[in-house]
Amino acid sequence: MHATTLLTTAALAIGASAQQSYKASFTQYGSGDQNNSGNCNVKTTACGYYTQPGYSAAISQNEFGAGPGQGAGPGCGTCWKLTIETNSSGQKVSNAGNSIVVKVTNLCPAQGNPLCAQNGLSGTNQYGANLNFDTCIDSGASKALFGSSGVGLGVGTAVEVNCNQWSGTVVH
Ligand SMILES: *[C@@H]1O[C@H](CO)[C@@H](O)[C@H](O)[C@H]1NC(C)=O
Ligand SMILES: *[C@@H]1O[C@H](CO)[C@@H](O)[C@H](O)[C@H]1NC(C)=O
Repeated sequence: MHATTLLTTAALAIGASAQQSYKASFTQYGSGDQNNSGNCNVKTTACGYYTQPGYSAAISQNEFGAGPGQGAGPGCGTCWKLTIETNSSGQKVSNAGNSIVVKVTNLCPAQGNPLCAQNGLSGTNQYGANLNFDTCIDSGASKALFGSSGVGLGVGTAVEVNCNQWSGTVVH
């Protein structure tokens, strides 16, 4: 009995250490954003699909693995647990600790966009974040993550998770 408990504990510890936590910044894009992006939950994403239902996001080019116009990168379809903690000046937001799981459907381009121009996963953007997730407003991800925080840009953590932790359906 005692041996079984020890083994279980060891297995959990290994599982936990495999999930690296990155510092991440979070933005919002889609219908009604400042850049007139239009609906982000469409088949013309860089990955060629959208989610309905299910939270989705565009991820920094360093992790997406392909540039603009190059189509689906290796980052397509990966799932990430995002946790918001602070606003852009490091002050705790009202819903600090709030988490959602998103599926990557799009690319956040590096060129001309310092937010998503990290040089590899050890690189950082202007908020010290290794990754930026531009959450898709039309998938409901932005509302679910930012909630009533009142901020448009948040900072927190991102951990890649198994997609069995994501709920939704991919539409091709
Ligand atoms: C608008 O585009 C700029 C430049 O690409 C980017 O830095 C900014 O985060 C975008 N804003 C939103 C709300 O997506
Ligand atoms: C961050 O939150 C603090 C405390 O609420 C506030 O004073 C500050 O203006 C906020 N900064 C930004 C960039 O929103």
